[in-house]
This record gives sequence, structure tokens and C-alpha cells, in this order.
Amino acid sequence: MIDRIHGGNCPEGGIVDFSVNINPLGLPGGLRGIISKNIDRILQYPDPLSTRLKMRLAELHGVSEENIALGNGSIELIHLIPRAFGIKRALMITPSFSEYEFALKLNGSKSIFLNTCEKEDFRIDLDRIAGSLPSSGAFFLCNPNNPTGTLLHQDEVSYIVRLCRRRRTTLVLDEAFIEFTEEAARKAVITNAVKNGSVIALRSLTKFFAMPGL
Ligand SMILES: Cc1ncc(COP(=O)(O)O)c(C=O)c1O
Repeated sequence: MIDRIHGGNCPEGGIVDFSVNINPLGLPGGLRGIISKNIDRILQYPDPLSTRLKMRLAELHGVSEENIALGNGSIELIHLIPRAFGIKRALMITPSFSEYEFALKLNGSKSIFLNTCEKEDFRIDLDRIAGSLPSSGAFFLCNPNNPTGTLLHQDEVSYIVRLCRRRRTTLVLDEAFIEFTEEAARKAVITNAVKNGSVIALRSLTKFFAMPGL
């Protein structure tokens, strides 16, 4: 058993908790009203196939419903990916979100680390990625990166997508914080994911939309 402590459970008063980085502005406007109007529906079982949500997300991202998988938080999907895709080796940037390494470890997969450092402003070097990317494995890339905030732009992400495709490696692009950036409006990554089949784009309701774990 590995002893792990999650942030967000600080005792009240006197402590400002930066460990879970949830939007301090709170829930999107209007959501409170929608929830209270529909509160009686909590008595029904939720739709196990999330049919309507998938339909709306498919419309939003211009993809088909079969291309969407939903989890209770993206962490659930981060843990499913190594198992579902039989990933033996995966590259990741450090420092980054610790759950990738944990999920890989639980699956018996090997993690390969590409270090970035403060002295270089945590810059992610595309040539070093090309030199370290395993073939037929995975690359867990967090964009923008947690905790450094390093943001790769669309042309850099497209370069990595092509690189992964050539190596037959699955790119797991974790965009949990993308809505905080000007890159959020672009649909290219998700459309790409559908077109070439070797990209998994992860989005989350936790950070920008302040609905943790949904
Ligand atoms: C980079 C990153 N991805 C994913 C998650 C998990 O998000 P969720 O709440 O959707 O499981 C976190 C949570 O801290 C995160 O920092």
C-alpha cells in the first residue's frame, strides 16, 4: 500500500491551499440554478451510457460520440489508459502531474523521465522528446503543465502528434488546465485525436469549471 496524501483538505482558517488549483471564481454562472431546478432527478439512476452528455460534447468538439469516453474525473481515465492500451513503457516530463507515474506503476509499466529545470524556465525541448520517445509506448504530456505552467502551442503539439504517430506511440495529452489559456478555443488536438487514432486528449471539469472529480 502506498501512502499518498491528496491536497484540498486543509483545516479551515489561516491556510491558503494552492495544492489543488481549482478556479477561485467558483462554479460557472447559472449552474447553481440548473442544479436546484433538477434536484428531484437525483432520485433516478444516472444514465450509465451518459448519452446526452456525450451527444453535447461530440457537438461541441465536432467529433462523433464513439470518440468520447467519460470518467469520474480524468484520473479514472489516466488509470484506465495503461491497462486498456497495454502500455509497457511511457515517457513523461518532470516535474509534472504525479498521477501518470502512479498509474503506470500500478500497471507494472516502466516510466521514462525527461527532466526540465527552473534555470531553463521549465522549457520542454522538442528535440529531446524526439530522442527519448519510446516506440509502441505512450507519452503522457500535460499542457499547460502542472505544476510549472509551461504551455506548448498548437504547432508544437502538432509536431509531437506527428512524432508519436511515426513511433506508433500513444500521445496522452492532458489538457486539464487548457481553458485557462488562449489555446482553449482550438479544436485541432481533439479533431486530430479522432483522425489519427494515436492521440487521447483529456479534459476535466475540475479546474476551470470548479467541479472536482466529475
Ligand atoms: C494535470 C492534471 N490532470 C488531471 C487531474 C485530475 O483531474 P480530475 O479531477 O478530472 O480527475 C489533475 C488534478 O490535479 C491535474 O492536475
